[in-house]
Amino acid sequence: MKRIGILFGGENSFPGALVEQINARNVNGIQAEFVLTGAVEAGNQGNQGNQNKPPRYAVLIDRISHLVPFYRAFLKHAALHGTVVINNPFWTSADDKFFNYALAAKLGVHVPPTVLLPHKQLPPGATDRTLRNLEYPLDWEAVFAAVGEEGFLKPIHGGGWRDVYHVHNREEFFRAYDQTRDLCMVYQKAIEFTEYFRCYVVGQRKVRIMEYDPRRPHSERYVENPAPVPRTLLKRMRMEALKLCRALGYEFNSVEFAVERGVPYAIDFMNPVPDADLHSIGQANFDWIVKEVADLAIAKAKTAPHPPKLRSAVFLASEPTPAKSATKKKAAPKKKINPNVEG
Ligand SMILES: Nc1ncnc2c1ncn2[C@@H]1O[C@H](COP(=O)(O)OP(=O)(O)O)[C@@H](O)[C@H]1O
Ligand SMILES: [Mg+2]
Repeated sequence: MKRIGILFGGENSFPGALVEQINARNVNGIQAEFVLTGAVEAGNQGNQGNQNKPPRYAVLIDRISHLVPFYRAFLKHAALHGTVVINNPFWTSADDKFFNYALAAKLGVHVPPTVLLPHKQLPPGATDRTLRNLEYPLDWEAVFAAVGEEGFLKPIHGGGWRDVYHVHNREEFFRAYDQTRDLCMVYQKAIEFTEYFRCYVVGQRKVRIMEYDPRRPHSERYVENPAPVPRTLLKRMRMEALKLCRALGYEFNSVEFAVERGVPYAIDFMNPVPDADLHSIGQANFDWIVKEVADLAIAKAKTAPHPPKLRSAVFLASEPTPAKSATKKKAAPKKKINPNVEG
């Protein structure tokens, strides 16, 4: 029996629905369950057996290890023994937002001008001598020349809007920066968007574009009956969301775009545990994401576990996504369609 394990924290709707959906498919030899683990022994596999036995889980879906270092280490250990972990715990440990923006720019995806800033306070244990390579005072004129006076200060290892500051002038900037402790922050130009979209990307193939209004209260942000959006814009966001997830190796991610004068700017695309709660995303989005993640987990389980490959570079790499057939489709006539669709 190949097991698909779901590792999760406080969320209620998604993990249970996923287990139910996978098991309801009755795929021969595949079963989903909630993970149960205790202490893990290095030499054993998920504390369940000896070196020659297959790992307990063929696939693990990770929804919580960003908050629990024990789970992150448990997942890396499982990956070492051949379990496919969604998302790759080695890469999620390595990634950061500034790297994301820089990579996007190299890929030709629009991102707002963004600058990496030194910590406001010294990291714990550091002394005056620790940062001798750092220019002082920092060239703030160059920072404001690159980004402008209105922008967002946000941590490179952020999430859930934690420690995100919207500032409108230098005074607000420095007031916010002074509160950022020893976090590593980026300062990014504010996009004056007319629309904002959040795109689920699953298996580096399936995309669902959802209109989202970050200015509304949390429970009302997913726009239920969005105005039609130009097909060309939807197509571009779909292509760019796929490009980013393939380059970063995420199997399950959400990519956010802010649209200013028709141009989508990628704002946040390091979301290895995207919000999938029924009560915030709504029934239609929920049904879509449960189905797609179930499909992905089952497809991965069919070929997992993989024989362990004992090199760090191999752990960091994502599984290659087969290229789509290069046959060219006829250009569709320009029209507007409802954005909440699978791209
Ligand atoms: N450059 C920007 N321009 C406009 N709005 C932004 C920008 N950066 C962030 N925001 C707003 O702040 C929110 C949180 O920022 P985000 O980068 O998504 O951080 P987190 O990872 O904490 O979700 C976004 O959903 C968006 O509403
Ligand atoms: Mg975000």
